Amino acid sequence: MPKMTFIEQDGTRREVDAPLGLSVLEIAHKHGVDIEGACEGSLACSTCHVIVDQTWFRKLATPTEDEEDMLDLAFGLTETSRLGCQIVMTEALDGLVVKLPASTRNMMGG
Ligand code: FES
Repeated sequence: MPKMTFIEQDGTRREVDAPLGLSVLEIAHKHGVDIEGACEGSLACSTCHVIVDQTWFRKLATPTEDEEDMLDLAFGLTETSRLGCQIVMTEALDGLVVKLPASTRNMMGG
């Protein structure tokens, strides 16, 4: 099974199983990683914002316009920001590394 790594706000790296076809958001939830994902992947929030590792960012499918629009609202947007619910695990993404944006916890109140 593919693996992926979440880097938490304090720098802790968590390597977890990443079943094919699941989104990064779903994988995070499966493993208790702290990504909110308030709209459950329907592109109506930006709380599933993750910062993708440079190397991996280039391998991801181009974001849709809707994703771009939501991302614009994300706090702490970076060059390699994506919405976690829009990144779906494939064989090619085995080893994917994403970082949680530092501000999420504050914005969500906990
Ligand atoms: S969970 Fe709301 S846009 Fe991803």
